[in-house]
Amino acid sequence: MFLILFAILIFILSLYYFYQINKYKIIDDYPGPSALELIKFNFLPKSTVDSYKYFVSLNKKYGPVVKIWPKPFKPILLVSDGKFIKSILLSKEHVHKPNYYCLAKAFIGNGLPTMTDINLWRHERKIFAHVFNNQFIIDYTSTFKRHAIKLCESINENLNQPIDLQILLLRYGLNIVYDLLLNEDISKQDDRVNRYIKSMKIFLEIVFDRIHSPFKKYDSIFKLTDIYKTWTKCCDEARKFVESTLKKVIKLKKESPNKSDRKDFIDLLLESNLSYERILAQLRTLVFAGSDTVTSITGFALYELAKHPEVQEKIYQEYISILGADKNVFAEFRDIQQMTFTECVMKESLRLFPPGPFIFRTLINPTEIDGKIFPGNIDILFSIIDSHYSNFDNPTEFIPERFLPENAIKIPANAYLPFSLGPRDCIGKTVGIVETKFLLSYVIRHFTLHPISNHEKELAGEMILTSKNGLPIIFKKRID
Ligand code: HEM
Repeated sequence: MFLILFAILIFILSLYYFYQINKYKIIDDYPGPSALELIKFNFLPKSTVDSYKYFVSLNKKYGPVVKIWPKPFKPILLVSDGKFIKSILLSKEHVHKPNYYCLAKAFIGNGLPTMTDINLWRHERKIFAHVFNNQFIIDYTSTFKRHAIKLCESINENLNQPIDLQILLLRYGLNIVYDLLLNEDISKQDDRVNRYIKSMKIFLEIVFDRIHSPFKKYDSIFKLTDIYKTWTKCCDEARKFVESTLKKVIKLKKESPNKSDRKDFIDLLLESNLSYERILAQLRTLVFAGSDTVTSITGFALYELAKHPEVQEKIYQEYISILGADKNVFAEFRDIQQMTFTECVMKESLRLFPPGPFIFRTLINPTEIDGKIFPGNIDILFSIIDSHYSNFDNPTEFIPERFLPENAIKIPANAYLPFSLGPRDCIGKTVGIVETKFLLSYVIRHFTLHPISNHEKELAGEMILTSKNGLPIIFKKRID
């Protein structure tokens, strides 16, 4: 009896094996690591630094299209090839994301970046495209000012000594996006904010562990583990964090509706007829997507600037030429638009340190790319970081001038994509750009930045790019 069951099992497994090999045989031509290497990578303990290094190394070793295929399981294609970027990211059809994104939903909510129901995504993306228009950003540069002043106060308290930019900026990034979206200044609510940040850190560690575990990624198995309770606690904390403010704001708006022409974010969402639960889910996501990304890029940019005093000087001169020498004058939206060199610095920082270095899409139906028909149900992992390295000369060097208009024309089409491209690109792109430029120029206006000798950052991919050993620099007061 046992032998018969065993034979049936072997038969079913063989069928599965040959079905999978046959289904995905078109990708077998591409180079990639062996199944043994992949199994070792998946099963051996590793840090987020190791994992980031490994994925970056694959394109370097095998080229712009790499097959990651632990046969007979489902393969992933890791690509930085322009033809794939054009055919998939820019296409209206390929907007699906794989189920990996669902793991993040529990904490960050079922908002735009994690939505797998494509009809609902299309409907809500339209609503948010309307909300995230320029007027919204122009209206809110005053929020940037308020928080930039607070950031400078914190820097003033820590002058002439090493300070970790990631720690310094984490609160700033969160406070500003929270204020922008939910009209509440949480800069003095230390306990509440620290609880959220702590929960987020624990959650990110668990997500990393789940993604790399062959079993824990399945909810039914994960629910049986010890950490499930911690996971649930973190997710409850994240929901409470946003919900407590949202309830308050909606109540206030019902009591005294905003009759003016100047609508805020919540006004526009309430007008859009989204249900309360959908507004909450989207806001939870936006708080996460809008804070960690800006914190990450501002931190890396300031860290690089500390090593390049000549670039700091150029930003300073640009600021003075636009706003004059009075330290108490703040940049408005139109001033920020004029800061072309600061924009080059931001772009170069995003080239070297894109907050989302890898992004996924799933091909649902068979698709022709570069003369080959790829089967449906295949996951494509775009390496933004490899595209940013392989398409630029001296790729590891920090050279903001490569983004000056006369040089930028040489950048191959679609090779630079820190905000992704196409219909599912970053909806908060303009907010992110304006906020980052505002902050970089404001900090450089008031301080000079200095590196810590011998500190080498260790890049790690934890949903958002980070440095595992921090980004310490020294701030000194700028003497005009
Ligand atoms: C410099 C800062 C930022 C960078 C580099 C950045 C980068 C990205 C990237 C690469 C994606 C595509 C992700 C994917 O396809 O998996 C994305 C999507 C998204 N980003 Fe950003 N982002 C930034 C700032 C922001 C801000 C400030 C907000 C909102 C306040 C925001 C909200 C979103 C949302 C909602 C999506 C999902 C869009 C969709 O799926 O339709 N981002 N971002």
